[in-house]
Amino acid sequence: MASKLVRNRLRTLCRISQLSNARFNNKLRDPNSNFPSLHNQVKWRSYSEVSQPTPINPPPPPSPNPSTTSTSSLNEFELAKFSAISETWWDAEGPFKPLHMMNPTRLAFIRSSLCRHFRKDPNCTRPFEGLKFVDVGCGGGILTEPLARMGATVMGVDAVDKNIKIARLHADLDPKASSIEYRCTTAENLVEEQRQFDAVISLEVIEHVADPAGFCKSLSALTIPGGATVISTINRSMRAYATTIVAAEYLLQWLPKGTHQWSSFVTPEELVLILQRASITVQEMAGFVYNPLTGRWFLSDDISVNYIALGTKPANSDETLD
Ligand SMILES: C[S@@+](CC[C@H](N)C(=O)[O-])C[C@H]1O[C@@H](n2cnc3c(N)ncnc32)[C@H](O)[C@@H]1O
Repeated sequence: MASKLVRNRLRTLCRISQLSNARFNNKLRDPNSNFPSLHNQVKWRSYSEVSQPTPINPPPPPSPNPSTTSTSSLNEFELAKFSAISETWWDAEGPFKPLHMMNPTRLAFIRSSLCRHFRKDPNCTRPFEGLKFVDVGCGGGILTEPLARMGATVMGVDAVDKNIKIARLHADLDPKASSIEYRCTTAENLVEEQRQFDAVISLEVIEHVADPAGFCKSLSALTIPGGATVISTINRSMRAYATTIVAAEYLLQWLPKGTHQWSSFVTPEELVLILQRASITVQEMAGFVYNPLTGRWFLSDDISVNYIALGTKPANSDETLD
């Protein structure tokens, strides 16, 4: 039964893969696409290269016409899935178990890379004191709460009202997290309100939005000049299909079936490109790798499945909020 299911899934994958490659090849042939040159030129620091605090490279000049977008990032089908399981956010054995398990690892990346960028001491208890963060697509606040405990002034926003209610209730249980401002809204609405933050963080969200490029433009507009944007997502690779869909959803049943659409995954090259077009330059990237023997995640140079990127916005960015 399970092997028939896997065979069917792999057949579907081959079909999707052919379609996706065709789409990608067309992009490469498109004379207006700068993908090939970018692919050759972009250099981000992989995890193993970043062992010592290093000065941030001078950012490249802003792209010719950076602009924000008013396109809605909302994908109602995706939001309905999160609304249906909103009461399980803090159940460490529930559908969000993978996020709970990955949390220490993603926080380790965020702590070290943001401390490097903002020249803060990563070894102190509240390294983000004095910084304003927004967590876009915060869900129940699994990541938002530790950010607040590390001293940041944090706003958590999510398009699903039930998620925000759960996040609020949970944060109020801890005086160190109760300062979090939670709002049911979107990045594009915050752009319209002309809000800006030192760091804009959006983990495991871009693969669920309607317009990833527009979404990144909104994240960029929310980032102050000289600030940082952190995004994590899943690579559109064969390995990601096998592990995050076939294994995690169907075999291990860690996640509800249908949680992920393989075609919505974003490759690292695509993420770098759409961020670059939104005036954000990726400086660091790392993969999250699961060790089935220890049951733990760790940071790695392997970005073939789950990965995280930190990008920065030029300090002299003259991006207008429109
Ligand atoms: C996989 S969860 C990630 C939650 C959280 N970022 C984390 O990693 O712990 C994706 C979240 O993004 C939210 N979301 C999806 N599309 C959104 C959008 N366009 N604007 C704001 N939130 C969105 C969903 O409601 C859901 O809570």
